[in-house]
Amino acid sequence: MQITLTRPDDWHLHLRDEAAMRAVVPYTARQFARAIVMPNLVPPITSVDQALRYRQRIVEAVPTGLSFEPLMTLYLTESLSVTEIEKAALDPHIHGVKLYPAGATTNSDSGVRDVQAVLPVLEKMEELGLPLLVHGEVTNPEVDVFDRESVFIEKTLNGLITRFPKLKLVLEHITTKEGVDWVLAQTENVGGTITPQHLLLNRNALFQGGMRPHHYCLPVLKREVHREALVKAATSGNSRFFLGTDSAPHAQSRKENACGCAGIFSAHAAIELYAEAFEQANALDRLEGFASLHGPQFYGLPVNKEKITLNKRDWTVDSSYPFGDDRLVPFRAGETIHWKLE
Ligand code: NCD
Ligand code: ZN
Repeated sequence: MQITLTRPDDWHLHLRDEAAMRAVVPYTARQFARAIVMPNLVPPITSVDQALRYRQRIVEAVPTGLSFEPLMTLYLTESLSVTEIEKAALDPHIHGVKLYPAGATTNSDSGVRDVQAVLPVLEKMEELGLPLLVHGEVTNPEVDVFDRESVFIEKTLNGLITRFPKLKLVLEHITTKEGVDWVLAQTENVGGTITPQHLLLNRNALFQGGMRPHHYCLPVLKREVHREALVKAATSGNSRFFLGTDSAPHAQSRKENACGCAGIFSAHAAIELYAEAFEQANALDRLEGFASLHGPQFYGLPVNKEKITLNKRDWTVDSSYPFGDDRLVPFRAGETIHWKLE
């Protein structure tokens, strides 16, 4: 069996910097025409000038013969100015501003502690149509890790969208039924991205025969009912759900660690993993909308002209890949994937 689709884009991606970035850019560039690049570097990307310099470094890492366009984002801190937002909205390479609640995930310490502090910036973004990309989890240590997305929706997101009803907003990497329902309850200025791991795995995968650090990401995997809700949303044909891998490479030594960090690397097989999830749901005919059409529609960008072909054929993922001075363990390392991008 073979399927052909419009070349897809990745609407949520971590590329890191320097040698790590040079190691992972080719995987994404081989599959996707464009990707929304997350700004959570150390230090974070907080200005248009920094984002443009980072963009240049990414472009230089794209292998010759491949076309790949990085779509840049700014990291929202409490000191980001309205002037910088105006500059970002005018720049053709900047496509969003990322809100990390401080402490919610990898490199989020400079994120937002109090949403009140960023209201003028959000107001300007609403006015100028610059999308807000939200990591939707509360950070209160008293809240159960598995409830952090649903509590964030209740405590922060509802208030935010009531105050800024026209704000273009993406609830990133949704992982719960509550996340799906929330996106569905909004108007078309609100979308949601879904990762391959949250479509394919539930939280049992974290403890499958032992602790599985390579299945740990944030927001963490949830119960089966939530996975089913995500599959239903992704395969529904609703244009407000689109592909965002959240491929988040970390060195093997930092994952296989007494305090292993969050992030799953999936860029080596992203579209194939989505194809598996859609096939399991008998919805391969909906993959193109989710992967290649809904994202550009939301971001107001043209649909890609090229096509890609996927064959139904088994291949085995390498156990690890080079990653600067370390190694990178990919999703499904050493295991079989049933689709192959040609
Ligand atoms: C991401 C990372 O490593 O940068 N990790 C993750 O588990 N998804 C950050 C993020 O998107 O939360
Ligand atoms: Zn992410």
